[in-house]
Amino acid sequence: MNFLSNARRPDHGADDQQPLEAVIRPVTEADLADIERLDRAVFGSACYPAFVVRQLFDVHGHHMLALDTPTGLRGYVLLATARGWDTGWILSLGVEEPWRQKGYGRRLLSQCLRDLADRDLREIRLSVEEGNDAAVQLYRSLGFVPIGTRADYLGPGEDRLIMALPVAGAAGAAGR
Ligand SMILES: CC(C)(COP(=O)(O)OP(=O)(O)OC[C@H]1O[C@@H](n2cnc3c(N)ncnc32)[C@H](O)[C@@H]1OP(=O)(O)O)[C@@H](O)C(=O)NCCC(=O)NCCS
Repeated sequence: MNFLSNARRPDHGADDQQPLEAVIRPVTEADLADIERLDRAVFGSACYPAFVVRQLFDVHGHHMLALDTPTGLRGYVLLATARGWDTGWILSLGVEEPWRQKGYGRRLLSQCLRDLADRDLREIRLSVEEGNDAAVQLYRSLGFVPIGTRADYLGPGEDRLIMALPVAGAAGAAGR
């Protein structure tokens, strides 16, 4: 599956008003308190502290999208680039209950990847708990493949599966 051909373009830009239906839009500075609440609701004790949310936004806010619903922000995705800017890392993807299993996780990630179309990236990577079937299935369906398991990757006992998505458009640039 080629995410570039299947992903959607943004529904519309950021808006100060609450949307009448769920939309995916860029995160703004005004959203940071909501993102922190959302991250805590989705990831519990593994959530990012407020200062990390702020600093991630300052550095990577141009690759941060939110699921904006009539009841507030209920999902978000964050990508950062690394290694000489040719590798992207999905640092966060979460959708709050009861908004899960409605296609929003896929839309968030697909749109985030689609927004990279004009970037000269070779690969997108992420780490995920091996038993996180929902996330692993979603990543596989978008073309990510496992490239190894790292013991204690996020700390003692926090093993993670690393998955990668080769960016087809950048393959030709491999030799440059
Ligand atoms: C992973 C997560 C973001 C998926 O969001 P979502 O909005 O529920 O996902 P979608 O509805 O877009 O589903 C996309 C695909 O994910 C997979 N999926 C989603 N929920 C699933 C479940 N409960 N069991 C198995 N597969 C599931 C399916 O492959 C699905 O595709 P399909 O609908 O064609 O079958 C969401 O479950 C979540 O926030 N989990 C907690 C945080 C987390 O684990 N984040 C990932 C950290 S690496």
